[in-house]
Amino acid sequence: MAISSLTLFLNLARFSLALAIATSLTGSAEARKLHYTHIPSIQVFNLLSIQGNGSTTGFNALRCGGPAQPQPFMFGTIFCFDMPLLKKKDLNSELLGRVQGTFTIAQQTGGAVFVTETFILNGTSLRFKGTFSAVGLENIGRVSRKPITGGTDDFTLATGVAVTTPLGGGTLDSHGNAFFWFKYKFNFE
Ligand SMILES: *[C@@H]1O[C@H](CO)[C@@H](O)[C@H](O)[C@H]1NC(C)=O
Ligand SMILES: *[C@@H]1O[C@H](CO)[C@@H](O)[C@H](O)[C@H]1NC(C)=O
Repeated sequence: MAISSLTLFLNLARFSLALAIATSLTGSAEARKLHYTHIPSIQVFNLLSIQGNGSTTGFNALRCGGPAQPQPFMFGTIFCFDMPLLKKKDLNSELLGRVQGTFTIAQQTGGAVFVTETFILNGTSLRFKGTFSAVGLENIGRVSRKPITGGTDDFTLATGVAVTTPLGGGTLDSHGNAFFWFKYKFNFE
């Protein structure tokens, strides 16, 4: 009796496993591929350069909206950006892709921005290519985390956390553009 129960249990377990495999095989090719591929964490650097007053060159972020009445700490001001993602904290290092999106000054005391962004990774040295997005708050000057939602190509259905680390204070160029380096680490589940 004990043996036949065990046999029954093993057969049931085998059947469930076969069913699970068959079910996963009916998913899309992309989902199936991701199910078996773990994406290791990826690190990139980027340089934010905010347009100075009257500047016509040398920036990758500009004010693209905001309240009719200027607010203290620029509350409600929206910036649009299109920034390069680099292999090192060096503009001459390999271009790994771009990040495009917006940030809004989201706190009335000016301490946080609400960011919506899509990362496009296509550098020749990268093992995984495609796009994924991150949405959430960033605390100005502090390490911030945002959930990752995939995405396209190798990042289809990918999930994870994007960790943004500001690398020191800003600098100004002769056009009044303000520059800030950041490090991004994408930790995939
Ligand atoms: C840029 O111009 C605005 C007004 O248009 C002013 O409030 C702001 O202080 C100026 N910024 C700099 C850095 O000069
Ligand atoms: C990556 O995409 C950008 C456009 O967003 C393009 O300029 C660049 O040549 C592409 N790089 C590779 C290696 O395909």
